[in-house]
Amino acid sequence: MELWIATGNKGKLEEYTLALKSLPDLKLFSQADLKSFTPRPEDGQTFLDNARIKARSVKSLKPEAWVLGEDAGLEVEGLGNLPGVHSARYAGPHARDSENVAKLLKMMQIRNISPRTAHFKCVSVVLTPQGDEWIFEGKLSGKIGSKPVGLMGFGYDPIFIPDGEEKTLAELGPGYKIQKSHRAQALSQFLAKLKEL
Ligand code: IMP
Repeated sequence: MELWIATGNKGKLEEYTLALKSLPDLKLFSQADLKSFTPRPEDGQTFLDNARIKARSVKSLKPEAWVLGEDAGLEVEGLGNLPGVHSARYAGPHARDSENVAKLLKMMQIRNISPRTAHFKCVSVVLTPQGDEWIFEGKLSGKIGSKPVGLMGFGYDPIFIPDGEEKTLAELGPGYKIQKSHRAQALSQFLAKLKEL
């Protein structure tokens, strides 16, 4: 089976590749493998809206394929769940991960946020070759550290410490993320549903 991941995010794609590498019958592709692909603006109000936008944009070029579109983000409870759907662009339209992290730490400092509880959310929309839409969700709870630590992963990984851990996701690395992350939870629900077919 061919599965198309509707993402241009290299960090995410690495996680999917690692998580699915033990399934030899599943061949992974991404929008980078399409000859002419222009991403649509992610202007939805929710993770589900944006996951749909991504999935549908690839599906329109690959109507016969399995397509997985996914939107994820970090919600800091003391900041009213920001940056949320704005996670990728929190510090501006073309912000780098390090700039988003710096802005988040600054906002938390200015507003003296305590406790520093937060969670990642992931919503995946799978469009099947038959035209059905499947929706899966994952959540990883934890807290925001005081400074970036660790070199692995992407996005807010260097400042996110999952519940029950003392290290950030950027220290725990991809082995941890493909087992326990918000993304891994949504993916394992998808794989379970596939098995039922
Ligand atoms: P998008 O889902 O590709 O639009 O990206 C959302 C943004 O949320 C990313 O650019 C990261 O900043 C953040 N994000 C989503 N998932 C993760 C994760 O697993 N670790 C760290 N940051 C993440």
